[in-house]
Amino acid sequence: MNQTVSQASSLRGTPALPADKSISHRAALLSALADGRSRIRNFPDSADPQSTLACVRQLGARAKRDENGTMVVRGGGLEGLRPPSQPLDCGNSGTTMRLLAGILAGQPFGSVLTGDESLQQRPMDRIADPLNAMGGRVSLVDGHAPIRIRAPESGLRSMDYRLPVASAQVKSCVLLAGLFAEGTTEVIEPAPARDHTERMLDLPIQEVGGDRHILVEGGTSVEPQTWSVPGDFSGAAFLIVAATLVPDSEITLENVGLNPSRTALLDVLRGMGADLTVSNERVEGGEPIGDIVVRSADLEAVEVGGRAIPNLIDEIPVIAVAAACAEGTSEIRDAEELRVKETDRLHAITENLRALGAEVEEHEDGLTIEGRGPNLLGTDVDSFGDHRIAMAMGVAGLVAHGETTIHDAGCARVSFPGFWEELDGLIEEDG
Ligand code: S3P
Repeated sequence: MNQTVSQASSLRGTPALPADKSISHRAALLSALADGRSRIRNFPDSADPQSTLACVRQLGARAKRDENGTMVVRGGGLEGLRPPSQPLDCGNSGTTMRLLAGILAGQPFGSVLTGDESLQQRPMDRIADPLNAMGGRVSLVDGHAPIRIRAPESGLRSMDYRLPVASAQVKSCVLLAGLFAEGTTEVIEPAPARDHTERMLDLPIQEVGGDRHILVEGGTSVEPQTWSVPGDFSGAAFLIVAATLVPDSEITLENVGLNPSRTALLDVLRGMGADLTVSNERVEGGEPIGDIVVRSADLEAVEVGGRAIPNLIDEIPVIAVAAACAEGTSEIRDAEELRVKETDRLHAITENLRALGAEVEEHEDGLTIEGRGPNLLGTDVDSFGDHRIAMAMGVAGLVAHGETTIHDAGCARVSFPGFWEELDGLIEEDG
């Protein structure tokens, strides 16, 4: 599906956000490991969390929506998973594959995890190495999926593991494997990545010399409970930047997840001059949430890098669009992880912003972007099959002169199924 977006003169409204993808995956997995019936309020139809749900069903959990739309999942406890009769298809979802591998490495049965073409090109040694060091029997094809997991010979052993990459997926994989290991597993995190897994499992955390040490005791049972999934901050990010860039705009985003390990974008945009007001802050289901009002503002260039990157990892494509419309030269560094996402995002952003007339220099770990003010020119761009590239280009299309056509734009459904409709609904007609 191609999507054409025209330059907009104003955005107004209160768009509906999808439920948070990261929290939804974890709620589905933890519900499958709990003994009894859990409820997940606001579980989304986005393709990635649906991949996780399909996999836990194949592993014996029962899941269906009740009459109020709540997803009800019946799990069989830590020892209640059943051997899957077929390979587990993780679709486009790295989170499904990496977190599920942590759970499956400790099972007394074998399994195979596979996914789409993009997922089969993403690095999986980052999870196979620690799982095998715990006594797992995880094999890859040239560092990639399909992942073949055999039952460990004599159960998993706990370990202390210092993460070599700042990745919430790797951290969560090892922590989930730790539930099935003998003893206490400790994950040491040099730069903080999103903390939903440790929050949802209520794991003890120690701060030692600037590092976070997260501890999980083997055999800790997961209680069946009601999870409430907030609005997805990373989905909101596209609309926040859109309303900032399009003149004469004011939008309100309600019930957005505001977990501090996810919201560094707000600081970055405020540093660039954005007009953002957060209100109605509260905690629901262990996660901070609130409302965000966004009004248009002129932006100045920004420098992002270092320890902030894991907190911004999914927002960098849209930060790049903001930078292309800001005054001055922006720098994004230390972001080499973007090369191993659903596509090589540094390459995809460079190609697309250049097509729109921006001056972009590509580095191994980032981008230098010459801001053009509101001078992008609409043209044809490509999603590269990546939902976040598609949506970032949708935002660029709202500010670029004329029309921008995003090829293969349907992949937005991976995390934000109603994105194009919501964007369209915000556009105020001239006059
Ligand atoms: C996610 C972690 C991030 C992020 C992804 C979701 C998660 O990946 O990019 O969209 O839910 O744990 P990494 O942890 O690999 O950086």
